[in-house]
Amino acid sequence: MVANPTLLFADRDGQAATATSERLLAVENVNLEYRTRERIVRATHDVSFDVYGGDRFVLLGPSGCGKSTLLKAVAGFIQPTSGSISLDGQIVRGPGADRIVVFQEFDQLPPWKTVLQNVAFPLRVAKKLSRAEANERALHYLEKVGLASFANAYPHTLSGGMKQRVAIARALAMQPRVLLMDEPFAALDALTRRKMQEELLRLWEEVNFTLLFVTHSIEEALVVGNRILLLSPHPGRVRAELNSHQYSQDSFGRSDFQRSVARIHHLLFEQTETVQ
Ligand SMILES: Nc1ncnc2c1ncn2[C@@H]1O[C@H](COP(=O)(O)OP(=O)(O)O)[C@@H](O)[C@H]1O
Ligand SMILES: [Mg+2]
Repeated sequence: MVANPTLLFADRDGQAATATSERLLAVENVNLEYRTRERIVRATHDVSFDVYGGDRFVLLGPSGCGKSTLLKAVAGFIQPTSGSISLDGQIVRGPGADRIVVFQEFDQLPPWKTVLQNVAFPLRVAKKLSRAEANERALHYLEKVGLASFANAYPHTLSGGMKQRVAIARALAMQPRVLLMDEPFAALDALTRRKMQEELLRLWEEVNFTLLFVTHSIEEALVVGNRILLLSPHPGRVRAELNSHQYSQDSFGRSDFQRSVARIHHLLFEQTETVQ
């Protein structure tokens, strides 16, 4: 237990204490760029972080600081211009079933497939499961997100929150080494968003996966994460790394939670901040 409930800066001991196993993902001195015909846009500058098994690791920073680009690089969709990303000690060179992304958009489910087919299909293709095995596993994960009774529904009949729960079930059913989430709740109304954060934490307790989660919401970062990497505005550089495992949904409105929000806000937006 943390004696002082204010925000702690992560140190090596802090990292080891929050991790349930060894280092899974290593991002080292990563620069990411977009080259357009007219110019080069630098998305991140010299970013390094480690994710351990069982972490709920959050990348937090303002819009445009390169969070999505970083996540795409971890997913293997784009390559760093320098630095390296490795998973289980192997350099990431492209996409793989060991890293599955849940996006913000509600249209990530093919509309012509039922909920069950949406979850089962990647299991058949990538995991080579038989139809029966894939359906069984898909149903198992749909139960976990409370949507087993919607197995035969089509995506357009579901609310935004339900669609995101299907996307989460589909991702977890693949049993990735690390689940990547890019602002998955940002397009939801505030109440649904809170509910989804709560459900994600419950799922994490139950299924015990490793999460790399992107958000621009300080409150969401504190609630969802056990560790938070703060990125400066464009191009994203590491401002600080924090431990935040002491917070949960119940922390909203508490004074220590509000103090942490204010402190992170200051760290993100004040150039002259000295880290004490
Ligand atoms: N396809 C692209 N081509 C050129 N620039 C891009 C592209 N995608 C993103 N960028 C730029 O890279 C920077 C980081 O973008 P992004 O990773 O989407 O930030 P975030 O997810 O933190 O909002 C921004 O300045 C953005 O305008
Ligand atoms: Mg983004």
